[in-house]
Amino acid sequence: VSAQNRQFRLGARPDGPVKHSDFELTTEPVPEPGEGEVLVRSEYISLDPAMRGWMNDARSYVPPVGLGEVMRAGVAGTVVASNSDALNAGDAVTGMLGVQEYAVAKPQALIKVDPSLAPLPAYLGALGMPGWTAYFGLLDIGKPQPGQTVLVSGAAGAVGGVVGQLAKLHDARAVGIAGGPAKCEYIVQELGFDVAIDYKHEDVPRKLREHCPDGVDVYFDNVGGDILDAALARLARKARVVICGAISQYNSAEFQGPKNYMSLLINNASMTGFVVFNYFSRYPEAIAALTGWHAEGKLTARVDVAEGFENFVETLNRLFKGENTGKLVLKIA
Ligand SMILES: NC(=O)c1ccc[n+]([C@@H]2O[C@H](COP(=O)([O-])OP(=O)(O)OC[C@H]3O[C@@H](n4cnc5c(N)ncnc54)[C@H](OP(=O)(O)O)[C@@H]3O)[C@@H](O)[C@H]2O)c1
Repeated sequence: VSAQNRQFRLGARPDGPVKHSDFELTTEPVPEPGEGEVLVRSEYISLDPAMRGWMNDARSYVPPVGLGEVMRAGVAGTVVASNSDALNAGDAVTGMLGVQEYAVAKPQALIKVDPSLAPLPAYLGALGMPGWTAYFGLLDIGKPQPGQTVLVSGAAGAVGGVVGQLAKLHDARAVGIAGGPAKCEYIVQELGFDVAIDYKHEDVPRKLREHCPDGVDVYFDNVGGDILDAALARLARKARVVICGAISQYNSAEFQGPKNYMSLLINNASMTGFVVFNYFSRYPEAIAALTGWHAEGKLTARVDVAEGFENFVETLNRLFKGENTGKLVLKIA
């Protein structure tokens, strides 16, 4: 065990995209696990769009990260010392351990994972929180029926890529919206989407008319903004709009809400938001299903690996520039 633990602490509330000056890089001695606790060495830090929202001093589903606190983040790593019967040194785990190299935790706050079944960072992506988000959001709220059309934005990302694959596993049509030809090719060729729409180069309303001639039965929204409005304008009767995220708005001071919401009335449709953490008691169900499909070769779990603890700020900003394909993680050990 190295003697030092580097940490990114929130130093200021960001205005727009995060900057280096919004953080303090601190170094402390590696903590000692107490009775019933374990020490985890972090290997991969998860970069999630929600982290931007956690930095704002605003009411949300979790309290904001306090100034001076270690930045909240999901982590995958290895237990290096254990004072608990529940976990042993050498066990691979994930948990909300923050942007730091080591953390002490109680076993109940960690999920033990099996790196022989999938690479460790996949448990931060399709087999972890983003995968559970896709699972509950699509299957519990979206409820796609065979033959129906599922539209998903942010389709080449961590959550969106799983949504399209789950739609196909449930015999629905999967139409994805993503930025740029490479991502569009990836979701069709590697993830098995039926169609991709490149929102950076194509006219989204026109392409939705072309590719969703009978309308959209389920719209899984990761981005909000104009794309949400284009999808609302194309809803089928009794459609379900699943509000998972609105990344196009996270860095802006003026949040743009939907204009075309009367489409819900016209089509007898619904729009429902959700937070994956509320499904905590059902995580084992999602984990079993997703790891099962992955083992059968039916679920691709691509990760996009950046390197270097000191590159945390630039790496987080890559999400907002669309510079990741699949689940973005930072390898730090
Ligand atoms: N409700 C929940 O419990 C829950 C849980 C997890 C995640 N989420 C939400 O799910 C969404 C996806 O998260 P993720 O972790 O899977 O991230 P991700 O999709 O892997 O990465 C973000 C992607 O968003 C796209 N994007 C960025 N700016 C955009 C813009 N202005 N307009 C359209 N697309 C833009 C980029 O792809 P392009 O190159 O295609 O633009 C980028 O690669 C986020 O909104 C996140 O907050 C919600």
